Amino acid sequence: MSILCIANQKGGVGKTTTAVNLAAGLARAGQRVLLIDLDIQGSATATLGATPAHGDLSLADCMTTERPVLEVIRDTSTDGLKVAPAGDRLALVDIHLATAMAREHVLKRCLASSLPHFDHVVIDTAPYLGLLTMNALVAADHILVPVSCEYLPILGLKLFGETLARIGSALGAPCDVLGYLLTLYDRREKITVEVEKILRRNFGAAVFENPIRINTRHKAAPSHRQTIYQYERKNGRGRADYDHLVDEVLARVKARGEQSFARLLDEQAAARVQAGAIETAAG
Ligand SMILES: Nc1ncnc2c1ncn2[C@@H]1O[C@H](COP(=O)(O)OP(=O)(O)OP(=O)(O)O)[C@@H](O)[C@H]1O
Ligand SMILES: [Mg+2]
Repeated sequence: MSILCIANQKGGVGKTTTAVNLAAGLARAGQRVLLIDLDIQGSATATLGATPAHGDLSLADCMTTERPVLEVIRDTSTDGLKVAPAGDRLALVDIHLATAMAREHVLKRCLASSLPHFDHVVIDTAPYLGLLTMNALVAADHILVPVSCEYLPILGLKLFGETLARIGSALGAPCDVLGYLLTLYDRREKITVEVEKILRRNFGAAVFENPIRINTRHKAAPSHRQTIYQYERKNGRGRADYDHLVDEVLARVKARGEQSFARLLDEQAAARVQAGAIETAAG
């Protein structure tokens, strides 16, 4: 099971498009997926056609009254994909959280009872590092950072990396960047080639191999309340790009799991040696 936060404090870099289509792609690959919409804009919720009616329960209730996320989850038209909707009162949550106890850990607590029901949780976040985004970062196992192929987003990345490191040490929740994802990618554009070069030079293998190409269908799909898998024809390149991302994410999450399992075994073996519990062959 993995909790994956899609984050970048820069706006309009493809966070929501990636959260929705990665979640849908994972569900199509047979995984049980929950998408958490922690952005007050509620764009992921709207794309999935799950906007709550006035007075319906939403994530805002979880974040203010510690109601389990399980109680607000809705079905979507994609099999295996459920959503915890943002709701219009989410905008007031930052103010409420300002005086709450252990305020960065509220989502983590509300999410705990849902985890056995899902293989992956994907969290969409807002383009600023407010308390809602902090909650997402603390709850997440991994962070996926979309970077659009423009000059300004790349400038903000250094600051974002430093902020993640500070949050990690201040909150005792190390932020593991699963990968940087090139979005709005157009190989014919000089800026795309430059941004890709800079990103790969600075972050090496942490950059996902396959970018998400620029594609007007990504703009159109949300207005039809559809994921790219529902909106685009079968061999469309938007679907192909997100399918590649799904493969890379699954491989990286699996590798992270194996690494931490190996580390655990090493730690247990070291503890046994220390306790004199392992007899050496020579002994
Ligand atoms: N690969 C793409 N090709 C073309 N348009 C795209 C692509 N990805 C995203 N878009 C469009 O770019 C705009 C910004 O994308 P998106 O909403 O996913 O970004 P965001 O980072 O979530 O924005 P915000 O920071 O406001 O939440 C949207 O209109 C979206 O439809
Ligand atoms: Mg968004």
